[in-house]
Parts: sequence; structure tokens; C-alpha cells
Amino acid sequence: MNKQSVKNLLCVIGTRPEAIKMAPVILALKKEPWANVRVLATAQHRHMLDQVNAFFGIEPDIDLNIMRPNQALTTLTARLLLELDNVLQAEKPDAVLVQGDTTTVMTVVLACFYHRIPIGHVEAGLRTWDLQNPFPEEANRIIAGKLARWHFAPTEGSKQNLLKEGVPDSEIIVTGNTVIDALLMTAAKDLELAVPLDSVKRLVLVTSHRRENFGEPLRNICRALRTLAEHNPTVQFLYPVHPNPNVKDVAHEFLAGLFNFALCEPLDYAPFITAMKRAYIILTDSGGVQEEAPALGKPVLVLREETERPEAVEQGVVKLVGSNYDRIVEEAQRLLDDESAYRAMARGVSPYGDGHAAERIVKTLREHFA
Ligand code: UD1
Ligand code: UDP
Repeated sequence: MNKQSVKNLLCVIGTRPEAIKMAPVILALKKEPWANVRVLATAQHRHMLDQVNAFFGIEPDIDLNIMRPNQALTTLTARLLLELDNVLQAEKPDAVLVQGDTTTVMTVVLACFYHRIPIGHVEAGLRTWDLQNPFPEEANRIIAGKLARWHFAPTEGSKQNLLKEGVPDSEIIVTGNTVIDALLMTAAKDLELAVPLDSVKRLVLVTSHRRENFGEPLRNICRALRTLAEHNPTVQFLYPVHPNPNVKDVAHEFLAGLFNFALCEPLDYAPFITAMKRAYIILTDSGGVQEEAPALGKPVLVLREETERPEAVEQGVVKLVGSNYDRIVEEAQRLLDDESAYRAMARGVSPYGDGHAAERIVKTLREHFA
């Protein structure tokens, strides 16, 4: 292949879920002879990003090291835009790939738009139609939806959302979510869980980090978790706590000191998958966990008022419980006590992907560039 026909593709990752969901795409693109793949880590997350890259064997070519403790969204956005200007000028990519709805994504699509560089948006078209939920992600993905050239929609529903916003049909490719590609690559490996768990007791796994839950909603969630732990001494609880101080401080204030409730640092990706496989039920406000858990046959109670991932809710394996104390206690207790209610939700369905999403994304780019 002559030098001119090799295209420079810049894949950008900022946070933990972007690194997980972009890894299958990066690894697949690296096998393509026509693609010169460069990886830019904004490092909006530091440790949580690095552990995922180490697991998948991905070494960023450029690292902006942008994370600061408890960084405000405006500061993060401004610092990213300035740095991205320099990167895009130096790299001059033929196309840039981003994943999801973080501040990294929003700033990269804006910077690429100004530099007239085409963007491929992985996990396009997720919507709640409510700018406050999730905040600020709904705005970030709407901006990405306006500016991208290729919209890699995970489901038919996400494609419909984009069509409603006027995105041309020819620019939308339904691929499945790459999170399932990553999950299948990972679940096939021999995994180890760093946290010691009782092999007999049932496990309730918890994660929470959404900005719209900061303050009173997160305190309600923690109060409900405390009640559940106190009422169910034969059940063990595990909560790998997100390092954002707005989460960490509240989780420790309400939940430290219970004998059957373990608070720990975020788990590395592979051990977290092991914890999910080991879990009886999962309580979470995470987007990625809502996609992975149904594929592993685990009932999920979503600690949010709305979700941009309605498919698993429609199939009855994920339920929205919000941040209401009574609702969380009642729904979790029902799953712990009522075997038939539990079995109805523990069916094992995968509405978000079949493990071949990255192949479809690469095929689209190959047809365009090669
Ligand atoms: C971000 C994304 C969110 C995504 C989530 C995944 C935005 C606005 N939010 O939220 O969409 O769901 O990542 O986890 O883009 N921190 C550390 N170490 C780390 C990572 C974070 O200490 O490795 C702390 C820092 O104090 C940092 C804070 O967490 O300032 C918040 O990080 P930030 O990326 O702004 O937001 P998240 O809540 O992580
Ligand atoms: N995850 C992880 N360790 C943890 C918690 C979650 O590796 O302690 C993984 C999880 O498997 C999923 C992803 O992180 O793939 C979800 O990231 P997060 O919840 O931070 O963000 P969201 O998906 O809500 O944007």
C-alpha cells in the first residue's frame, strides 16, 4: 500500500467507559493495512483510564493528562479545547473517532468541526430527551449528533432518535454496542477478583456516580443501601466507589462500618466483570453496567429517574427505581425475597450487541477510505 493511501485515524478516549468501549475498535483498526491508528488519551480520568488501557494492551500515542481533582466542567472544557487545537494541528488526522457522551467527546467534536475533520461517533443516538438527565451527557451527545459524519448507533432505537433529529439515514450505521465486544473479550479470560467475598452469601453489587444524583439523591440512595444491609445480614454488599469526591465522601459517611457492606476503590475492569458475574443483583446508575448486566443474566435496578437505554427495561430485565428511598428498598427487597420475581429478571438477554460491533464500524470506515 503506498503512503498516500494510508489514512491517519485518531481514536480519542477520556474516561473509563470510553477506554473500554473504544478498545475493540482500536484493536480491530490496528489490523487494517490502510489505517495508521493513533490513540489520544485526554486522560479526563487518570487511574480509571490507565487500568483499562493496560488490560487491553493499548498505549496512547498522545496523553493530555487533563484530570485535576474535582475539576469543574467549564474548566475541563476550556482546558481540553486549547489542548485539542494543538493536537489536531500537529496530527492532521483524516478522521477522528470518539465514543459516548463525555466532556471529552463534546470538546473533540467541536474542535474537529472547527478544523473540518470528519468525526465517527461510536454509541450515537442515545437520548432521554431531558437535558438535565443525565447532566451534562444529554447535551454532549446532542452536540456530537449534530457534528458527526458517521453515527455508529448501537440499536435500532438509537437510529430512530437520530432520524428524528434530522440526521440523514445514509450517515447512520446500526452496529450494536462495542461494550459487548469488550465484555466477550474479557469474560473469556481467566479473571481474578481482588476483593475477598464470601462464596456462600448472595452478593448485591452497587455503583453510582451520576452528577444529577449529587447531594440529596445520592444521600437517599445511600440511606436505602444502609437499610437493605441492616435488614439482610445474610447478604453481602459490595460498592466500588467512584473517586469523584462528591460521591466518595457521601458513600463513606453513610455506609462505612457495616459488617456486611464493603466499600472499595473502583475495581479494575476484569475484576469488575468477575464481580458482576458473581452478583445476585446489581444496583447502579452506570450506563455501561446497564448494558453488560443483562448479557450476564443479572437483574439491574437503575438508580436514575430516566434512561437512554430503554431496550433492557422493555424486555423486563432492568427496572428504573430512581433515587427514592422507599422504592429502592422495596424493589431490592422483592428481588431478594421473591424467587419468581427474581427469575423473571435474570433471563440473560443482550439487546445492546452481539460482540461484532467493532467489525461493523471498521467495515464502514474501510469502505470509505480503503
Ligand atoms: C465522567 C463523565 C461521565 C461518565 C463517567 C464515567 C463527563 C462530564 N462525565 O464523569 O459521563 O459516565 O466519567 O465514569 O464527562 N477522578 C479521580 N480519578 C479518576 C477519575 C476521576 O480521582 O481516575 C475524580 C477527580 O477528582 C475528577 C472527578 O473524579 O475531577 C470527576 O471526574 P470527571 O471526569 O469530571 O467526571 P465523572 O463524574 O468521572
Ligand atoms: N467498571 C469497572 N470498575 C468498576 C465499575 C465499573 O471497570 O469499579 C466498568 C463497567 O464494567 C463498565 C464501565 O466501567 O464497562 C462503566 O463505566 P462508568 O459506570 O464509570 O460510566 P458510564 O457507563 O456510566 O458512562
